[in-house]
Amino acid sequence: MDRTDRDRLLDHEYDGIEEYDNPLPGWWVWLFWATIVFSGVYVAFYHIGPGPSVIGQYEEDVRLAAERAAKQTATAGAISEDVLAVLQRNPGAMTRAKQIFVARCAACHGDRGQGIIGPNLTDDYWLHGRTLTDIHRTIREGVPEKGMVPWKDQLQPAELSAVAAFVGTLRGTNPPNARPPQGVDGAGKPAPEAKAGS
Ligand code: HEC
Repeated sequence: MDRTDRDRLLDHEYDGIEEYDNPLPGWWVWLFWATIVFSGVYVAFYHIGPGPSVIGQYEEDVRLAAERAAKQTATAGAISEDVLAVLQRNPGAMTRAKQIFVARCAACHGDRGQGIIGPNLTDDYWLHGRTLTDIHRTIREGVPEKGMVPWKDQLQPAELSAVAAFVGTLRGTNPPNARPPQGVDGAGKPAPEAKAGS
């Protein structure tokens, strides 16, 4: 390369310091023009043309999230006797459900479901239905006017199903100090008066 041409001295001088007028490297200049061209294309596409805006993308994400949530609720809503009965045979789910029961339900229903403020869950008599889906509904929606909390906002759908299935396993366990039965049995017969007096 021709040194005299490339390293041309500029005609100023500060405190004896002189400076060459070196051209910027080709790749740098190329990149510089590329960014300018890119910004033009960007503005044309996203601000003027058909490109999605940030708000549009956000709204799309929100829509997808809502769709996913709806789908999840739909699957969680697909509760049946079979689904809950299968859960009862799942040791992992039952262990987890028992922990939840002891932590959240035992204060009112006793650590073994024998009943304290809340009814005995181990006998054959039920106030709000005896099937697993009935139990699931009672736990989900609660009986607020009678002091039974609705759990749908405090437990995940899977936890709720597992706890309902677990409550079903308590029936007939006959724990000590059980609260007298309340409600009706499978044939619709009310709990015996003599034992129910409390
Ligand atoms: C603050 C006290 C309290 C807590 C905590 C509580 N319950 Fe209850 N529960 C009650 C009361 C009171 C009733 C009876 C409602 C009625 O008389 O209609 C009840 C009723 C029920 C029933 C219906 C029983 C029947 O005879 O039909 C089920 C099932 C049940 N609870 C499960 C649970 C589970 C599972 C939990 C924990 C996730 C829980 N409860 C936590 C107070 C409570």
